[in-house]
Amino acid sequence: MIPQWLIEKKRDGIELSAGEIREWIRAYTDGAIPDYQMAAMAMAIFFRGMTPDETAALTKAMLESGAVLAWPSVPRPKVDKHSTGGIGDKVSIVLAPLAADLGLAVPMISGRGLGITGGTLDKLESIPGYRTGLGRREMERVLEQCGCSMVGQTEDLVPADRRLYALRDVTGTVPSVPLIVSSIMSKKLAAGLDALVLDVKWGSGAFMPTLEQARSLAGSLMDVGRRMGKRTAALITDMNHPLGRSAGNSLEVRESVEALKGNAPPDLEELTVELCAAMLVLGGLLPALEPARLAARERLRSGKAFARFRRMVELHGGDPSALDNPALLPGARIRESLRARRNGCLERIDAGMVGRACLVLGAGRRSAADPIDHGVGVSDIAERGRQCRAGDVLAVVNANARGACEEAMRILDGAVIIGDAPAAPPEIIQDRIGL
Ligand code: URA
Repeated sequence: MIPQWLIEKKRDGIELSAGEIREWIRAYTDGAIPDYQMAAMAMAIFFRGMTPDETAALTKAMLESGAVLAWPSVPRPKVDKHSTGGIGDKVSIVLAPLAADLGLAVPMISGRGLGITGGTLDKLESIPGYRTGLGRREMERVLEQCGCSMVGQTEDLVPADRRLYALRDVTGTVPSVPLIVSSIMSKKLAAGLDALVLDVKWGSGAFMPTLEQARSLAGSLMDVGRRMGKRTAALITDMNHPLGRSAGNSLEVRESVEALKGNAPPDLEELTVELCAAMLVLGGLLPALEPARLAARERLRSGKAFARFRRMVELHGGDPSALDNPALLPGARIRESLRARRNGCLERIDAGMVGRACLVLGAGRRSAADPIDHGVGVSDIAERGRQCRAGDVLAVVNANARGACEEAMRILDGAVIIGDAPAAPPEIIQDRIGL
């Protein structure tokens, strides 16, 4: 293979064969193709796109670059959920123990936050002692004992994506549908799942700014899932306002604990129940969505899944007393209220801007190696559609530095949209595909 010939082929809009893609990814993983040629190829893919056949071939080649997990000692159906990322999206922390409590096994390999969107690993690491870096055997033992385990990507899992994702991050090639699809699906397929449910978000706090783009991404993710023989379904969900009442690592763990005890805010409950129902149906535990929704809602409201989360945290080396007494979680010294400037109906607090405020406070990272502050973020976020009066508290900034607090307040001040007429908030779940 002459690498520059394949780059030229893609640059000129000619379809690559599965064999060419396989050889390309193998050579990149082995180090025979340097980053500068991979960067050129990624940019050619960014501009030219990929056919469904090419996207599926790229996903398969990435998957084959590393180990594929299997769970022979775990008899339950293995089902996971993947979200394309958002602000205040703590669903995984509630959903994994809930789905496990209803009989599924959830081997969840999660990511860290990058840019404005949060990451499940960062949230879990705000629990003192919680280890996200379990080996395969350890993860299997946790799955056997409590049905769910939430970990980070290991060195041997999809090594091609590790290198390529870092390269895309610095070459302006992240927002390309075939590159996103192959990156997400290769990792999920490597986790040894029977089925996968996708939460594809659109809006100011998501990767995909428009509903149409989210639909196109979901269609491509579903297509690859089907071609690879996995039962796959997707929800298209709104991410223009943060999910739940908080954004920021330990703040979201607190909210998740409350949700697992049966006190989830309505939007978090609705999305968690719908994703759990889809997982139960795809996993073959229940025959249809309606009974699955009923089971998921009833179990979530009962508060029973909290004990399973507590057990999972303990098996991961975390201190479960921090879940019983959230004062033991990292916190913030400064709390400042954001107040409504006028009377009216709260249309939304822009999710993208809440994400930027969190970044300024130190809850997220600008580049992969940045340290983060687990205690900061935005809490007490008012729900959409609420009637408010000037002076009402719409959110609270939790900060550990005065300057960052002031900057976050400035950003949030511009994030609040209050209308005159009462307006019902939009549906959080805007479409269902494959269900
Ligand atoms: N998440 C991933 O894992 N990869 C992408 O390319 C985008 C989001």
